[in-house]
Amino acid sequence: MTSAKSALITGVTGQDGAYLAKLLLEKGYAVSGLLARRSTDTLWRLRELGIADDVQLVDGDVADLASLIRAIRHSKADEIYNLAAQSFVGTSWQQPVLTAQVDGVGVINILEAVRLASPESRFYQASTSEMFGLIQAEKQDEKTPFYPRSPYGVAKLMGHWATVNYRESFGMHASSGILFNHESPLRGIEFVTRKVTDGVARIKLGKVKKLALGNIDAKRDWGFAGDYVKAMWLMLQQPEGDDYVIATGVTTTVRDMCELAFGHVGLDYRDHVEVDPRYMRPAEVDVLLGNAAKANNKLGWYPETSLKELISMMVEADLRRVSKE
Ligand code: NAP
Ligand code: GDD
Repeated sequence: MTSAKSALITGVTGQDGAYLAKLLLEKGYAVSGLLARRSTDTLWRLRELGIADDVQLVDGDVADLASLIRAIRHSKADEIYNLAAQSFVGTSWQQPVLTAQVDGVGVINILEAVRLASPESRFYQASTSEMFGLIQAEKQDEKTPFYPRSPYGVAKLMGHWATVNYRESFGMHASSGILFNHESPLRGIEFVTRKVTDGVARIKLGKVKKLALGNIDAKRDWGFAGDYVKAMWLMLQQPEGDDYVIATGVTTTVRDMCELAFGHVGLDYRDHVEVDPRYMRPAEVDVLLGNAAKANNKLGWYPETSLKELISMMVEADLRRVSKE
């Protein structure tokens, strides 16, 4: 399918940004990506997907309102996807102010930039199941009350409500995607699935013997990032902005995810995983389980990849990476 549309993605160098950029390029979009200043190279994900030369990079930072206005003017984007964040929950206790500035105030910055520079553009905000935190219903949906348990969750809640408020105040086409955990071979190494699949590869290839983890009884509703970015795009194709939960409806312990990952290469996780209190969090989200019925019915969105397929894909990618080191 071809289209003459243009899109701007903040967080284009992250896991979701890379998959979303690929999806939009395949749909014929002109894709711009906001590139935050870093001292190291952050384009590895775009390179792995073979799209580094196809995305127009624009300098900017969500903490800098003027840079966002410039990026929006420059990209002439019909659709703006705000994926930029300090996204690691663990770090949010060490850097709560930065997390609030980027994940909370940063959303207001970009909403203001859209309102000032391109009010007709459609807007997507990357909200999160972490906002449910200490869960108030067994299965969480769009009507479940929030109870964040980390500075990250608190900041994201500000971004979520700012998105709802700009939609209601100014009639903007603004949507908040409340996405449950989603993973891929492009996941950052600090998140538990990738830490495990990288660890499995290193143990299998004889580089190390043990893997230290925190709370292995925590449960998450894990899906594949490649499936989830399709939901982001579908939200912006609707006649009105809205809020949607995106989840698989299956929850699994970290322990059982380890069993899948180690089992994929014929190992028993109990011989290798050690629990280390250093990886425990000051306040934990014990369990997340989403109900994506609204997205199923209104967007026609369904997850396409099982956890077993996802973890196998990630272990295989890490085996390839580690064997090349
Ligand atoms: P990620 O891999 O950590 O990517 C985050 C992106 O944000 C990176 O491109 C990063 O740039 C960029 N960024 C950080 N601070 C910035 C700033 N001040 N200005 C501009 N860009 C900045 O995260 P992800 O997994 O792709 O997640 C994408 C979004 O969805 C995030 O907002 C996350 O909070 C949210 N979310 C994720 C999940 C999930 O399970 N993955 C679930 C729900 C919601 P650098 O590469 O330069 O650091
Ligand atoms: N990272 C990590 N490292 N987590 C561990 C470890 C470990 O060694 N051991 C156990 N865990 C547990 C965490 O305590 C948590 O309960 C669970 O594994 C998942 O941790 P992460 O993979 O770090 O993800 P998260 O659920 O905290 O946050 C992710 O999902 C959110 C959506 O619910 C991130 O992608 C957030 O940005 C996203 O919003």
